[in-house]
Amino acid sequence: MSASGVRVKNLFPSNGSQPAEYRRIYVWELPVRAYHWINALALVALCITGYLIGAPIPAFYAAEAYQQYWFGWVRFLHFLAAFVYVFNFLARLYWGFVGNKYAKWTSFLPLRNSQRKEIVEVIKADVLETKLHGPISTGHNALAGLIYFFTFLVFVFQTITGFAMYSSMSTSWLPRMFTWVVPLMGGEFGVRFWHHLFLWFFVSFVIVHVYLAFYHDYIEGRGTISSIVGGWKFDRVKSDK
Ligand code: HEM
Ligand code: HEM
Repeated sequence: MSASGVRVKNLFPSNGSQPAEYRRIYVWELPVRAYHWINALALVALCITGYLIGAPIPAFYAAEAYQQYWFGWVRFLHFLAAFVYVFNFLARLYWGFVGNKYAKWTSFLPLRNSQRKEIVEVIKADVLETKLHGPISTGHNALAGLIYFFTFLVFVFQTITGFAMYSSMSTSWLPRMFTWVVPLMGGEFGVRFWHHLFLWFFVSFVIVHVYLAFYHDYIEGRGTISSIVGGWKFDRVKSDK
């Protein structure tokens, strides 16, 4: 389907009289959607298991260490989710070069003047609420794109610090590539501290992100939530009246 998509009639117009006309646009390609949900699942698993590694629940220590393996499973799941998350992220990096214009890296960085203006407009409408209506963007709005870009940097940081900790317990080439990070960050404690701290960045990001996804879905009525499942969004081409 071309980027301009097909035109569909809205069957449930807001004022119940004249149907509004919408253009249906294929925004999120399958690799972007697959990346999104694999990443979301892996991150939730990483946050829960990471939290348990940092603050193990004492009740689970009821039996002798040789009689139970729950902490081993928590660590195993953390490492499993970490590998899924890292390779999934590498696939998304690749798609940032070959995907459609909504997936491309240019949609994450405010390189154009129009993107910088859009950031100001979104802040006025969504953050400061000094304007009633913000810009309607087909892909990510420019502010969301920039925030995702910073989130991707945190993904990289978390991967580097994670593999740095893993390097002391593995002989595999991949973690061993990150041994240099430990002395650079002042030893194991420093790496562990920062790796732990960014857990809370992800928790905050997810709460705000999911809230905003539902908020935009509600106020724009263009299928924002379903777009990250099916790929399609709707752009209004004619008003109700
Ligand atoms: C751990 C949970 C989640 C994380 C880490 C996450 C992260 C992300 C990231 C990084 C993007 C940018 C995708 C890209 O262009 O490659 C994105 C987009 C999106 N996510 Fe999530 N997400 C999570 C959960 C959810 C949930 C639960 C929903 C909805 C119910 C959701 C709805 C969306 C939507 C609608 C977009 C496209 C938004 C836009 O137009 O800017 N996400 N998410
Ligand atoms: C991206 C999301 C991630 C989050 C939120 C996360 C969170 C955490 C947390 C909170 C801890 C406990 C730190 C402490 O001792 O207080 C931890 C430990 C650890 N994480 Fe992650 N992590 C993530 C990704 C990764 C990745 C990509 C790797 C790569 C292999 C990794 C490897 C490790 C290792 C090796 C430990 C130490 C395990 C141990 O000492 O038993 N993490 N993580």
